[in-house]
Amino acid sequence: MDVLIVGGGGREHALAWKARQSVDAGRVYVAPGNAGTAAEPGIENLDIAADDVTGLVGRARELGIGLVIPGPEAPLVAGLADALATVGIPCFGPGAEAAQLEGSKAFAKAFMARHAIPTAAHATFTDADAAAAWIREQDTALVVKADGLAAGKGVVVARDAAAAEAAARDMLAGNAFGEAGRRVVVEEYLPGRELSFMALVDGTDVRPLATSRDHKARDDGDRGPNTGGMGAYSPAPEVDSALFQRILDEIVEPTVEGLAADGIHYRGFLYAGLMLDAAGNPRVLEYNCRLGDPETEPLLLRLESDLVALCRAGTEGGLPAAEIEWDPRPALGVVMAAGGYPGSYRKGDAITGLAGLEDGDRKVFHAGTAQAGDGAVITAGGRVLCVTARGDDLEVARRRAYAAVDAIAFDGAFCRRDIGAGDAGG
Ligand code: AMP
Ligand code: GLY
Repeated sequence: MDVLIVGGGGREHALAWKARQSVDAGRVYVAPGNAGTAAEPGIENLDIAADDVTGLVGRARELGIGLVIPGPEAPLVAGLADALATVGIPCFGPGAEAAQLEGSKAFAKAFMARHAIPTAAHATFTDADAAAAWIREQDTALVVKADGLAAGKGVVVARDAAAAEAAARDMLAGNAFGEAGRRVVVEEYLPGRELSFMALVDGTDVRPLATSRDHKARDDGDRGPNTGGMGAYSPAPEVDSALFQRILDEIVEPTVEGLAADGIHYRGFLYAGLMLDAAGNPRVLEYNCRLGDPETEPLLLRLESDLVALCRAGTEGGLPAAEIEWDPRPALGVVMAAGGYPGSYRKGDAITGLAGLEDGDRKVFHAGTAQAGDGAVITAGGRVLCVTARGDDLEVARRRAYAAVDAIAFDGAFCRRDIGAGDAGG
């Protein structure tokens, strides 16, 4: 069966690489892919943008694709899964209505309130003066979020009421995130440690994946602006089986039951971004309707089961019988980014030192890379590579990943040096 992976980041390189190892997989296509997927044996890039729903559906039909696995949220929010369903092509990703869990933070917060899913107290505004008045009445630290999709950047953790008010006014005026900011969610700041919890979902059938942790801030020590993620590791060691079960019982089950009660069939990966407070109570910061990036890169380095078979089971009512096996050893990925990211950055710089770094325990997943005319690999995005390694413990995985990072160079390259350090992060 031929498989189409949609997207062109590190997560999609990892998905395509893993799909290629499936017994079921014939050809693996990636739209649009990157220089890393282009170089993989048995994987072919298609020159179609990840959010070109019409183009994707048309090519999937022409090629007789048997399964589509979308990576990013944009095509899902735009209705890719619905469009594929109308032409009978199985897709392991939610339809546009279900994807609202990520596509609209106001939708997600109202959903959580309706179904008593633990999350930060919040209010939603379209009017700047109303937002400002409410903000001034609060006596907790606040977080201001653009309602719509903003590539992981539409969130401002405010130092004080004045900063929260300024962020809300800026977003509502359409300055900061355009239409995505015309409605804002303002919520209570939750202290604690973040955790990424993902599952395969088909209606109320759930198969959880291993835990992971992303490092969202740009700089060491969790400083600097929020990014899409600067590195990740799996598993999160403090999540014992009791906490894992609690997250399933208090967050994941109520979520899928709530969706079903609202008449929404959710199919695909579901991501709950959680905050664990000092007592270990989990609360939801956000939902994503997809796998995390860069969490997917270390996760898939640990996955021993057949990815295509799992996703296919998710489209055929087969999740209850699906078994997911993990390498018990931890894995860790370090993102190498282009100077300026998450602001504007340069493209087209040659990347050197990539050869000879990969073995059974280490893999360099490409994100924003492209092939120049002469075959050289050049930068083409903000997050350029995710250098991922596995080891007997987190420290070994970490050293293995950073040894490869230190061999790779491009102008302006930077990375965090503390991914997984002392199990710090969040
Ligand atoms: P989100 O896109 O909603 O996950 O927000 C991006 C990042 O902002 C999260 O990963 C957290 O690091 C931070 N954040 C969001 N909401 C909160 C909150 N209520 N309290 C503390 N930090 C938050
Ligand atoms: N790494 C966080 C995300 O994918 O949203």
